[in-house]
Amino acid sequence: PLADGARLTGPDAELEIRFLSSDVLRLTWTPGRLPIPYAIARDILEDTRISVVPQPDGWCLESAAIRIEVGMDGRVRFQTAAGRVWREEDPPERQGEAWRHRVRLRPEERLYGLGERAAPLNRRGRVYRMWNLDPGGSYGPGADPLYLGVPLWISLHTDGVYLVFYENPSDATFDLGASEPDAAWVSFAGGALRYYVFYGSLEHVLARYTERTGRPPLPPRWALGFHQSRWSYESADEVRAVVQGFRDHDLPLHAIHLDIDFMDGYRVFTVDRRRFPDLPDLIRELEGQGIRTVVILDPGVKIDPGYSVYQEGMAQGMFCRLPDGKVYRGLVWPGWCVFPDFTDPAVRVWWGIHYRPFVEMGVAGFWHDMNEPTTFVAWGEPTFPRVVRHAMEGRGGDHQEAHNLYGLLMNRAAWEALRELQPDRRPFLLTRSGWAGVQRYAWNWTGDTESTWAALRQTIPTVLGLGLSGIPYTGPDIGGFSGAPTAELFIRWFQAAAFMPFFRNHAAKGTPRREPWVFGEPALSIVREFLRLRVRLLPYLYTLAWEATQTGAPLLRPLFWLDPKDPALWEIEDAFLLGSSLLVAPVMEEGARSRKVFLPSGEWYDFWSDQPFVGPEVVEVEAPLERIPVFVRAGSILPMAEDGLTLHLYGLPGREGEGILYQDSGDGFGPYRVDRFHERRQEGTLRIRRTEEGDLPWPGDGLRFQIHGFIPAHAVVDGRSVPVEGRALIVPLFEELIVEVDPDPSRTG
Ligand code: GLC
Repeated sequence: PLADGARLTGPDAELEIRFLSSDVLRLTWTPGRLPIPYAIARDILEDTRISVVPQPDGWCLESAAIRIEVGMDGRVRFQTAAGRVWREEDPPERQGEAWRHRVRLRPEERLYGLGERAAPLNRRGRVYRMWNLDPGGSYGPGADPLYLGVPLWISLHTDGVYLVFYENPSDATFDLGASEPDAAWVSFAGGALRYYVFYGSLEHVLARYTERTGRPPLPPRWALGFHQSRWSYESADEVRAVVQGFRDHDLPLHAIHLDIDFMDGYRVFTVDRRRFPDLPDLIRELEGQGIRTVVILDPGVKIDPGYSVYQEGMAQGMFCRLPDGKVYRGLVWPGWCVFPDFTDPAVRVWWGIHYRPFVEMGVAGFWHDMNEPTTFVAWGEPTFPRVVRHAMEGRGGDHQEAHNLYGLLMNRAAWEALRELQPDRRPFLLTRSGWAGVQRYAWNWTGDTESTWAALRQTIPTVLGLGLSGIPYTGPDIGGFSGAPTAELFIRWFQAAAFMPFFRNHAAKGTPRREPWVFGEPALSIVREFLRLRVRLLPYLYTLAWEATQTGAPLLRPLFWLDPKDPALWEIEDAFLLGSSLLVAPVMEEGARSRKVFLPSGEWYDFWSDQPFVGPEVVEVEAPLERIPVFVRAGSILPMAEDGLTLHLYGLPGREGEGILYQDSGDGFGPYRVDRFHERRQEGTLRIRRTEEGDLPWPGDGLRFQIHGFIPAHAVVDGRSVPVEGRALIVPLFEELIVEVDPDPSRTG
């Protein structure tokens, strides 16, 4: 027994069990190297009272929340304090350096997570590889692996929710009921078999997991706006022309991305001075129009004795080596390259120094690509050979161990540098690869997708799956990366992406142009409408971003977020929730002008028409080309940027409800405020109590409510009557607002 767990020793293996808190367990089977805790942000240990009791055929460990039984043969059963089993493992097996174990699955059990996957939302029934790879060319549904795996799953079944995170970066296979329908087989090529198990509600397990691996920090507000990109805008003139196009067509734009052709011969950290002779001026000019500049950086450093990054790195031993001591070389965009070893703290610092001139130029964000890491190969895997050596913080290791960490650590290097280089501004990093914990540093996009309807449909389960893996900020290249979307596909993709955390138009070299006006009408007007809607939604998105910093809850959520116990919601992947207020049902079939939407239990309002609905119900909704179905949950307070700020109050909550609004200056680390609106419904009245925290004064004079779903007959603010004009209510900052509902049914709705 240990104070917070136990160590169980057998002839061939040892198992250590620690209760990190009453509802979080860490199990470690050795032999095998322990992981360097790159994924772990906070090694919190709560003082947990547990008991360790011998049993006839093993041991039983128990906290207030979890009971765990370990058999003499190494089988492990996880139970509630009341003895209900929620996870069951057979004894693990070790074969050479590899570990594998079998986890029993119940008939109704559904599994989610695993990071970025082109798979159905419920991952059960397939085999997945945990080895970050560029799928090559472009990918569609079914491709595996992709660029960013996270070895965790969330399990939903009738006895609750648990999350398991395997803290092992080795090459791994997750066979989730493919070869044996009632079991998951998890196999790691090396390392100790260490995993964390979190038990509780869905929100709770993600909150606990992100407490340990890090919550996503608050992004600068502009990052939630619209990003325009293309591989590549090849000159300053071309960038100016694109930006002018946005102005001419009256389209909001928040960021422009410069892909690899802004560099001099693809040499990382350089600028092609012929094509971008005045990059600092260009950046300032754009910033003057409220447009931020994001530049791409790839990890491969061109072998070129006349290039300082190469010279310095070689002289200082910054690049990965082969076992014979030679620097490893691989082929990427610039030709033959060498690669920084981000598992070495000195390399991270050295790499980070190179961001300085770009920060000084005013570059607002950095886009990290090819960091799986990817190399171009004639055959075999497009990455380093496994024998490549890595520092692993000084203890040494090979690429088998370091591979999946490469992207994570490239982002860490940049993040740590940017926090020093721009202490008053929030870093914005975008990455293609990563691992558990990358949410602490970077946003993600879903890489090189095909320009097909199937790829659009795949976007939803992919983005939801990342969110359920702790990585909330992601989104697809609008229209798909590789091809030529029709105007209709582009419109439908744009409409869906307008509700996703990362909202970027991007396309491959050689594809037809895809700036919104290229498609003519009606595409242009529709895109404008959705861009404006995105801008109006920014206060809501920003509030969700703040919530993610507090709880780790993703911005985009599966419908089962509303009720994880309802199996009817477990496999819905053609719609999603944005926060807890909006249900979005994109149109993803060519030619469709209506679609079916499953509305979960409760009252809902059509966002466009205010028409009320009551779920659970499948409704067939009109979806002309200029609209996709969007519903607002009754009781929501949706903050939108209209007349400054308008709080849209939708109907009445079941009994109680809550709306939140987060505000600050949009960047930096200065004052902020959080206003919470606690709603209580009583007979014909709605009482809203407001509480606040933070030190930012309320901007503006008062609050503007717009009421949907009922007519306010009368309103009282802190005991004083205020006039009601139709559905608009302008009130001073209140502690309590009482709204009386007009009882005349002919006037409601
Ligand atoms: C990779 C990226 C893509 C980028 C291209 C050129 O394919 O995924 O987004 O445009 O490289 O840098």
